[in-house]
Amino acid sequence: MSTLNIRPVQERDLDRCFAIETVSYSGDEAASKEKILKRINTYPEGFTVLENEREIIGFINAGATHQVELSDEEFKELIGHDPAGTQIVIMSVVIHPDYQRQGMAAKLMDDFIARMKAMGKTEIYLICQTELILMYEKFGYQDLGPSNSDHGGLSWHEMSLHL
Ligand SMILES: CC(C)(COP(=O)(O)OP(=O)(O)OC[C@H]1O[C@@H](n2cnc3c(N)ncnc32)[C@H](O)[C@@H]1OP(=O)(O)O)[C@@H](O)C(=O)NCCC(=O)NCCS
Repeated sequence: MSTLNIRPVQERDLDRCFAIETVSYSGDEAASKEKILKRINTYPEGFTVLENEREIIGFINAGATHQVELSDEEFKELIGHDPAGTQIVIMSVVIHPDYQRQGMAAKLMDDFIARMKAMGKTEIYLICQTELILMYEKFGYQDLGPSNSDHGGLSWHEMSLHL
């Protein structure tokens, strides 16, 4: 049984995070290396990685704001991000395919929710595709309905969790 650890991201994690993002999301959905680096440097408090003794398994990254607009593509580059904002917008929840369906996203999300609560944040928002609504509901999120976002040319649902 491997030992798991969850910690804030560091710049040295960039290549592995980019590799996980690229292998896990299809096409346009994956963030570029530049976007991931910007998220690491701008808001490491909202970017946690889950690792075992060998490697990073997956991560969650997010920004903070006072006013959430989930279809705002610029926010993915943290334009409009304010670390003092009490509302958190998750940009990516991702587990490397080698480790999927083993409860890893659940562990990472539980920890993320606890961290955001401890930081005094009040809500977490995200968008997801229809097939993941149930998963996020298990994590405590509520379905807010279809999103205006056409990120990656796909259709999305908005979800939120009150902390
Ligand atoms: C979605 C993703 C993060 C799930 O990670 P995971 O570690 O496999 O998820 P877990 O094993 O913790 O599963 C948690 C729950 O969600 C369910 N679930 C996981 N993946 C699912 C999927 N693709 N479709 C439907 N339900 C799913 C599980 O059955 C589990 O429910 P259970 O507790 O009743 O068994 C992972 O598949 C991934 O990285 N996908 C590619 C990137 C992506 O689409 N991210 C989501 C962006 S909104």
